[in-house]
Amino acid sequence: MSMSSPNIIIAIDKSNQSDAVKLAAMFDPKLCRLKIGLELFTAEGPAILEVLQKRGFEIFLDLKFHDIPTTVARACTVAADMGVWMINVHALGGLEMMSAAREAITKTSHRPLLVAVTILTSHNQKNLSAAGITMSMEECVIQYAQNAQQAGCDGIVCSALEAGKLRKKLGDDFILVTPGIRPDGSKPNDQKRVVSPVAAITSGANYLVIGRPVTDADDPAQALLNIHESIKKA
Ligand code: C5P
Repeated sequence: MSMSSPNIIIAIDKSNQSDAVKLAAMFDPKLCRLKIGLELFTAEGPAILEVLQKRGFEIFLDLKFHDIPTTVARACTVAADMGVWMINVHALGGLEMMSAAREAITKTSHRPLLVAVTILTSHNQKNLSAAGITMSMEECVIQYAQNAQQAGCDGIVCSALEAGKLRKKLGDDFILVTPGIRPDGSKPNDQKRVVSPVAAITSGANYLVIGRPVTDADDPAQALLNIHESIKKA
């Protein structure tokens, strides 16, 4: 791992600026990027991005846009103008929506990376079927990933369980962002398709999204260092 290009993204899932800044202060921007999601962005809005960017962190703005193409394209333009490093949309929004998002950010002065969420790692085959999706999990993830690539997305969000197959199908340049990361022995919480950091990297993941195993640890900075160490050793 290059220290100037941290491949771990820490999820700052907090409901206010004070808790978010306290948590972020435990990390070194050379060792991780930060992910700001629905909870913190809904509470604090764009101001929180600026606060954390000023501390040297690159931000993955994880708002998982899914709406009609025009609305998503406009939201992506606004997000890009906030100077974030990565944004995302739901692949279920379709080719036209993802293409509109891609076209919108291409016109911005600071083009973030655009990734599409395939199937959330909190889903398994049973609740996928309950949502009316009759394809197997693997077929569905592959189909969504191929749509995302065709639409010009830079990559996808997927489970590291699928990363090996996807890497072969989509080539070396397509970015695979993998949440549902659990160091051996840690609790899965609400995640269903979980993989260890080392296994995720070995399977071809580019970026690991990690939340609770680090942020709920007694010593979050040490927990992050331990994960870096385990990857380095492997
Ligand atoms: O590691 P942990 O389970 O705590 O990570 C949770 C974070 O990962 C949340 O911010 C959630 O929104 C995000 N996530 C994601 N895509 C998934 C699963 C979780 O972005 N498929």
